[in-house]
Amino acid sequence: MRGCVSAPSECFLRRVNFGIMEFKINHKKAGRKTYMKRRAKSVITEHKELAPHIFSLKIKTEMAKEAVPGQFIGIYPKDGARILMRPISICDADADKSELRMVYRAAGKGTTEISGFMAGESLDILGMLGNGYDLDVVRDRRVILLGGGIGIPPMLYAAKKLKEQGTEAVAVLGYADSNTFLREDFEKYCSVQIASMDGSVGTKGTVIDAMNENGTAGDVIFACGPMPMLKAVKAYAADHGMQAFISLEERMACGVGACLGCVVKTKEVDHHTHVKNTRICVEGPVFNAEDVDI
Ligand SMILES: Cc1cc2nc3c(=O)[nH]c(=O)nc-3n(C[C@H](O)[C@H](O)[C@H](O)COP(=O)(O)OP(=O)(O)OC[C@H]3O[C@@H](n4cnc5c(N)ncnc54)[C@H](O)[C@@H]3O)c2cc1C
Ligand code: FES
Repeated sequence: MRGCVSAPSECFLRRVNFGIMEFKINHKKAGRKTYMKRRAKSVITEHKELAPHIFSLKIKTEMAKEAVPGQFIGIYPKDGARILMRPISICDADADKSELRMVYRAAGKGTTEISGFMAGESLDILGMLGNGYDLDVVRDRRVILLGGGIGIPPMLYAAKKLKEQGTEAVAVLGYADSNTFLREDFEKYCSVQIASMDGSVGTKGTVIDAMNENGTAGDVIFACGPMPMLKAVKAYAADHGMQAFISLEERMACGVGACLGCVVKTKEVDHHTHVKNTRICVEGPVFNAEDVDI
């Protein structure tokens, strides 16, 4: 490409990223208000470490008024060498205080840089991104919230909103060890079951092991976690005749549907791509498990 010395794909992503201020698409969903996706400045109001490498970040932003459980924002590192946003799910939103909370793991260079930002600093964000869970369709049903590892945070906002609308829920949270971050927060909204891979707390094993051990009953599953867990959840739901809505947290680049860097195979032909795949960042990250080929 003219005027760009880097590889075409990287150059393309830079253009998408720098052009995002003017990038406007409506997120349409039946019965839900629509908002423009936009890049904006926010201010960090609280930032602390909850467990080794797990951070809780609160920011002041008007986007808090729009947040739906399961949606995410893009957080921009400040180091110019890392131009792409890092997608992080909404863990809580307070519309009255205009505050969003995210809980994330410092996994690599971008999130480690973000973990060093201090309260009072400004933070560039892109949002609101993704579709989120449809809470209306589960209003009169019992929901099992399954969170594995860093898939636990988005389930907290879902638990809060389900309680607000009077929907019964149980959360089954899967940890690596006894660092059960966010456990007390969940206990404010629903009953909680715990699994840990090392067996130090709750059921030894996965969230599926915990459900089997506890005889956890429900009508529909909301799940977020690593891909092996989501595959197991899809199989569990099929075996038990349940509907499962799963959030896919795969790697992303633009976050706004432009680069096709985040597609997943689907059962049906997608209206945008016209082939059997779809963009996780726009049509997802939440999908009916039956609709995606994982
Ligand atoms: C929709 C969505 C929501 C997310 N929500 C959260 C959240 O609430 N909390 C949280 O901690 N993380 C979340 N993630 C994952 C988070 O975006 C990545 O961990 C982050 O982008 C890694 O950036 P990095 O520069 O620190 O790591 P990199 O240096 O890019 O990579 C470091 C390590 O992290 C792995 N990694 C990179 N991206 C992802 C990814 N998307 N998923 C899993 N592993 C990845 C890499 O394979 C590598 O092993 C979410 C991802 C998506 C797509
Ligand atoms: S990340 Fe670019 S299309 Fe989804």
